[in-house]
Amino acid sequence: MATDYIEKLHLRNFRQFKLLDIEFSKQFNFIAGPNGCGKTSVLAGISHCFHHGSFQYSRFQDDSEFWTDLTFSDEKRRVGMGRDSINDQGYRNQSIKAWNKPEAEQGRESISINEVNSKLKEFCPLFIGAQRNIKYQQINGMQREQPLEQKLNQYVSTGTKSLYGDQPSNIKQWFVNRYFMIDKDWAKEERENWYHMLEFLPTLAPFNSSFSYVRTGKELEPIFSIYGEECYMEELSAGFQAVLSILANIFEWIEGTRKEGFRVASKATGTVLIDELDLHLHPEWQFSLRDGLSNIFPNIQFIVTTHSPHLLSSAKENEVIIMDRNPNENVYSLKPSTKRFSGWNTDQILSEVMGVMSLENKDYEKFVTDAFDQIEVRSIEGLKHAIYKLTDICHPNDSILTVLNAKYASMVATSND
Ligand SMILES: Nc1ncnc2c1ncn2[C@@H]1O[C@H](COP(=O)(O)OP(=O)(O)O)[C@@H](O)[C@H]1O
Ligand SMILES: [Mg+2]
Repeated sequence: MATDYIEKLHLRNFRQFKLLDIEFSKQFNFIAGPNGCGKTSVLAGISHCFHHGSFQYSRFQDDSEFWTDLTFSDEKRRVGMGRDSINDQGYRNQSIKAWNKPEAEQGRESISINEVNSKLKEFCPLFIGAQRNIKYQQINGMQREQPLEQKLNQYVSTGTKSLYGDQPSNIKQWFVNRYFMIDKDWAKEERENWYHMLEFLPTLAPFNSSFSYVRTGKELEPIFSIYGEECYMEELSAGFQAVLSILANIFEWIEGTRKEGFRVASKATGTVLIDELDLHLHPEWQFSLRDGLSNIFPNIQFIVTTHSPHLLSSAKENEVIIMDRNPNENVYSLKPSTKRFSGWNTDQILSEVMGVMSLENKDYEKFVTDAFDQIEVRSIEGLKHAIYKLTDICHPNDSILTVLNAKYASMVATSND
């Protein structure tokens, strides 16, 4: 069970939110809602609590306040900015007036952002943005990996940038480095992680794809196999690139931000935040992603955003946080729903969770009502027409359509008697 995790986020007069409070659960959190409801903004809000370097990505007001409550090494902490800290002088132009600590709470130490480096350095969440395609890059050999201090600084200062795809990440270099180092004595944990990753890679892909790493040749191009065919990293289809890049990002972060002895992925704790986890992934793939990730990283807390009903249907109790667009004038108080969505079908999730009221659904209701009205007045022609309209928009095996067709056949039969 995760010991280091994010408990809550509080935002006041931050971006479009007047007030937002969210509670998170220790393991998996899916933030779900329609486009533009503020999912990415929630992740950006968390990223701002740890570093002031990317405030230009958001708009603030004089009385803005924002903080994240977390548990770190069994201690409760609150990190962020209290009111009257930021001077917003216009679009992309903010300055810091004062490093005010967030409001105090009994039993919880308040830490202002400029103290993160001294008091909370090792709590370093990973932000993965929606940009996940792998562009070609030639690798010339092993590259020395940055020391711990530098890595911690880099991750904590680029959180917001990574969310918006403005922070380059080099997955391929990570792979090539592993090729050079995994058989060395000094790379014990890296070796364990590498084989752990290779073992689990196929479980994250569609079940018949046999996604696997094959080798890295003399030209330093990692080669993979999917559906029995070998291909280069950049040739993998978008879905495979997305999964590979999420995985390698997490491994790289675990290995780069912990002391020796704490780098084994299967034991590592911490928080990974991923924007649009479903991006580029075929539905079949989305069903297995949640379990795949928590099998590989059992003690990591995940906070991911999605608008995919397929992904949500893999959620367990207390994992789905439902966001609406502008409820009660942008005042939100959210926590994971106690429902388990795994028994729901995607239509139900779309309409109940995502608030989708598609035209098709309204048409469906209208045509069904019309068909029953025609039966009521015993109009064969009217029913035929209603069925014709319905056939156009619904699934061929729709149960109501089947009933209506049978009814139509019997009406035609009796009228011919
Ligand atoms: N930097 C910003 N400052 C103020 N408001 C913003 C900013 N970025 C986004 N917003 C507002 O937040 C809304 C939701 O954006 P976003 O969090 O990206 O939604 P989602 O990820 O759910 O699609 C946008 O429609 C916009 O009104
Ligand atoms: Mg978004």
